[in-house]
Amino acid sequence: MRVVIIGGSGHVGTYLVPRLVEAGYEVVNVTRGQSKPYLPNAAWNAVQSVTIDRVPAEQAGTFGAQIAALKPDIVIDMVCFTLASAQQIVGALEGQVQHFLHCGTIWVHGSPVQQPTTEDMPRKPFRKYQLGVNDVDAYLLDDYGGQKAAIEAYLLDRARRGMFPATVLHPGHIVGPGHLPVNPQGNGNPKVFQQLAAGDELLIPNIGMETVHHVHGDDVAQAFIRALQGWSASVGEAFHVVSPAALTLRGYAESVAGWFGKPANLRYLGWDAFCEQVPERDWAATWDHIAHSPNASIAKAQRLLGYQPRYSSLQAVYEAVQWMIENQVITG
Ligand SMILES: NC(=O)c1ccc[n+]([C@@H]2O[C@H](COP(=O)([O-])OP(=O)(O)OC[C@H]3O[C@@H](n4cnc5c(N)ncnc54)[C@H](OP(=O)(O)O)[C@@H]3O)[C@@H](O)[C@H]2O)c1
Repeated sequence: MRVVIIGGSGHVGTYLVPRLVEAGYEVVNVTRGQSKPYLPNAAWNAVQSVTIDRVPAEQAGTFGAQIAALKPDIVIDMVCFTLASAQQIVGALEGQVQHFLHCGTIWVHGSPVQQPTTEDMPRKPFRKYQLGVNDVDAYLLDDYGGQKAAIEAYLLDRARRGMFPATVLHPGHIVGPGHLPVNPQGNGNPKVFQQLAAGDELLIPNIGMETVHHVHGDDVAQAFIRALQGWSASVGEAFHVVSPAALTLRGYAESVAGWFGKPANLRYLGWDAFCEQVPERDWAATWDHIAHSPNASIAKAQRLLGYQPRYSSLQAVYEAVQWMIENQVITG
């Protein structure tokens, strides 16, 4: 079986591509050729690399045909962010593949009614906080959850009408060695871990009871493999792929400080006061995370796919913090 993975050298692909090779699949990795997997693995020697930049290829209307020309049995799409992008690739692959797996996000839920949130709850995505118009990343991603929800609805509709064999997997905050985890302040600033390690004061928004929900990259890879191998249970379905339990910001901060033998020195600030004291880039990311306050159920993936995450949220973050110390991003 020939698997084409689009975007296979990032957070998830670092683990997923070697797992696919080890499971006996022939693997083609389509990227721009800029990123390297975070961890070495001899399995990469068996992977065919194809260089395509999806953005200009889509603008030229050739991307879907270029993927179809690779003759995949299975396509794993890690980097699809708009409905138009999904429609182009589906148009080219209809009738051509046995299975199509799309990487979504738990942010499709927006503000859910109940937690843990299950896959069958109505989607209420909302736009990310938009930094100044010059910030291209934030501008591009502002309707991230909305576009991912639209892609999910489109793919599952096609699948359930028997037209296209799609599965959607929704990871939480992906974490692992090699990249910065969402921290206990709800943003990506590694300084927060340094403050906790040193026993310095850390500002926490509100009363620290809003949540983040991490998942280790290898557990996301596990879910993709299980969805592939459980075709009949996974086609036409969406699954959350997160750790067994979300973390409150307060509990997360106290746990991290404990790893360094320090009591957490936390100061709680109402939202407006928090924004006055924290740089905009950080509080904007915090807002995006705590406005979602994800807490997703994995019961469906456990039941239908046999998904069994190896890492709790704290175990996954622990690995990333060790990596940050080893690479002097922070001092232990
Ligand atoms: N990160 C998270 O915490 C998180 C949480 C929930 C969901 N997700 C979802 O996870 C998916 C991303 O997976 P990831 O985190 O494993 O990816 P990642 O670490 O961001 O890596 C992106 C991969 O895609 C390739 N790529 C990027 N732009 C490309 C382009 N224009 N054309 C072709 N290849 C391109 C990159 O290689 P090159 O640079 O060499 O092109 C790399 O292999 C997204 O669908 C996202 O919505 C992520």
